[in-house]
Amino acid sequence: MALSTQPYKGARDFYPEDKRKQNYMFDVIRRSVEAFGYEEYDAPILEPLELYLAKTGEEIVNEQTYAFTDRGGRQVAIRPEMTPSVSRMVAAKRQELAYPVRWYSIPNLWRYERPQRGRLREHWQLNVDIFGIAGIEAEHEIILLVDSMLQAFKAKRSMYTIKLNSRKFTDYILKEYVGLNEVQAYSMSKLIDRMHKLDHAQFLAQVDALCAQSQRENGAVEQLLDVLHAKRFTALPQQVQSHASLLGLKKMMDMLEGAGIHNVEFDPTLMRGFDYYTDIIFEVFDNHPDNNRSMLGGGRYDGLVGLFGVEPVPTVGFGFGDVTLANFLELHELLPTIPTETDAYAVLVGDVFTPAQKPIAELRKAGLNLAVDVTGRKIGAQFQTAEKKGIHYVIIIGENEISSGQYTIKNLQTGTEEKHGIDRLVSIIKDYRHLEDDKD
Ligand code: HAM
Repeated sequence: MALSTQPYKGARDFYPEDKRKQNYMFDVIRRSVEAFGYEEYDAPILEPLELYLAKTGEEIVNEQTYAFTDRGGRQVAIRPEMTPSVSRMVAAKRQELAYPVRWYSIPNLWRYERPQRGRLREHWQLNVDIFGIAGIEAEHEIILLVDSMLQAFKAKRSMYTIKLNSRKFTDYILKEYVGLNEVQAYSMSKLIDRMHKLDHAQFLAQVDALCAQSQRENGAVEQLLDVLHAKRFTALPQQVQSHASLLGLKKMMDMLEGAGIHNVEFDPTLMRGFDYYTDIIFEVFDNHPDNNRSMLGGGRYDGLVGLFGVEPVPTVGFGFGDVTLANFLELHELLPTIPTETDAYAVLVGDVFTPAQKPIAELRKAGLNLAVDVTGRKIGAQFQTAEKKGIHYVIIIGENEISSGQYTIKNLQTGTEEKHGIDRLVSIIKDYRHLEDDKD
């Protein structure tokens, strides 16, 4: 039986046109985060499994991690997320780094998930984290950065909503207001995290089942639902409205409003899966009716660096996957057509392979990306190849051209042909390239 040409389930092949699209997204991302002073770092794709056992969360570790035993008997995982790795790196240089540390990375991550729209088994994830700021200035900067990155993709604020909540607030609600014990509160937070995937009756049945008889009789379920159904701070039960954890959230929302970011909402049902978040958490939702889902998420996690035996460092960050970003850009028609990196295609006419090397070398030295047709086929076939590859210009190199130093250049889009010396050819093609660059 022939081998399958399909990639591994839930993973992607990147043909050049796919990779171009991804490179475009990463270019915009890099420019946006570097504009805020973030520096790029990286880490190994393999990590000891124990790195994720402490705080990543049961679902990811037990059900979604690609883990194996290496030849030396060590338990290893392919990284399902970057946050533990970056925390390890900061902890390793805890004393030497200049704070606040602003770092970003775009790692390829693997999770054994059920592949579906927006969710694959491998994805690339922008991670942006700021280490060393305990106040909400950190959250403010991170959300401002997210917003300005989406603007750099030409998104309008009506296309996305930034949702906020606080783990401290949820903790207070579950344990003090509703009166659940530690174990119940943990299970309830996981249930709320899945709330929007369940129908309401199913959700209610499970909430009910999690509470003890006495708690139910004391109105725990109703109390919880009153909070979860609130869409604004003022819709929360009076008694919980002034809890200290909400003050930071409110202040930050005011600051964001001040910066013209009005598409921010408080959402008490927002949980985020990971156990390491300690306070404000956020997600950005795509408002498109066909894709009304979360496309990035993050929050404050002040405890991870300290797990490595050093003094803790307050941290805020987020992850943004290439799959959800591409869906967002495609649905909102924000993805430009990305031209090939090849500027021109040299068509060789006659037996000129050897003498053509000199002008070819000159064109490349002048900075052109030039592919040369070395097949000796008829001119028509060579032109067709250039067209199929989406290359904009063809340069014809035959005996006459080489002896006169004047080459025919054809614009495959308009069909116009001109004859010029090398310098002029180069400037025509470079002008076109700059025009294309200016488009994005
Ligand atoms: P996360 O919510 O698991 O957070 O992932 C962040 C983003 O990565 C998601 O919103 C989504 O865009 C993308 N993503 C996650 N899993 C998949 C998947 N299976 N397929 C496609 N895209 C996916 C974290 O990973 C945190 N470590 C983020 C963070 C950084 N928090 C603080 N710093």
